[in-house]
Amino acid sequence: VPLEIRRLETAWTEALGDFFEAIAGEEHFFHPHPLTRAEAARVGSYGGRDLYYVAVDNGVVLAYGLLRGWDDGYDVPSLGLALRPDVRGTGLARCMMEFLHAAARQRGSTSVRLTVEPDNVAARRLYDRLGYAFSSPEHGKLVGTLALEREELV
Ligand SMILES: CC(C)(COP(=O)(O)OP(=O)(O)OC[C@H]1O[C@@H](n2cnc3c(N)ncnc32)[C@H](O)[C@@H]1OP(=O)(O)O)[C@@H](O)C(=O)NCCC(=O)NCCS
Repeated sequence: VPLEIRRLETAWTEALGDFFEAIAGEEHFFHPHPLTRAEAARVGSYGGRDLYYVAVDNGVVLAYGLLRGWDDGYDVPSLGLALRPDVRGTGLARCMMEFLHAAARQRGSTSVRLTVEPDNVAARRLYDRLGYAFSSPEHGKLVGTLALEREELV
C-alpha cells in the first residue's frame, strides 16, 4: 500500500517498534515516552481521546505524530513529531505538522504547543517556518505555541 496517514492502531505495533529502533539514537530530542517495543504496543492499543498518527508506506512507518493533553483535561494539546532519518528533507515533516494542526482544529483547539531542545536545529527551523512563537527556555527546553486561526476569506 503506498503512502497514507493513519490513526495508530494495533496493526502498526511491530512497524512502530521498528520505527522507534530506527530513531533510538535521537531520544534526547524526541521522548514523548520511552522509544521501546512495549511502548509501541501500549500506544497502539490506546483508546483515549489523545490522537496518535503514523505515516506508513508499504508497511514501513515513516513518521509518528501525536497530539496529547485532552486526556489530562487540557484544551491546548502538545504536539510531537519524528521522521525516519531516510525521509527527512522531503517535505513529509511539514505535511505531518499541517495534518496535526488540522486534527487539533477539528477537535476544537484554538492553539497547539510543543517543547524543543534549544540545539535541535532541524526541528526549530521547521517550527519557525510554520509560525511558532517561542518563550525563553523552561527547564532547558523551549516552549513553542501556534494559534490555529481560521483562514481569512478574501
Ligand atoms: C524534526 C524533524 C521531524 C524535521 O523533519 P525534517 O524532514 O528534517 O524537516 P525539514 O526537511 O523541514 O528540515 C528542517 C530544517 O532544518 C534544516 N536542517 C536539518 N538538519 C540540520 C542541521 N543538522 N543543521 C542545520 N540545519 C538543519 C533543514 O535544512 C531545514 O531547514 P530549511 O527549510 O531552512 O532548509 C526530523 O528532523 C526528526 O524526526 N528529528 C528527530 C525527532 C525530533 O527531533 N523531533 C522533534 C522533537 S521537538
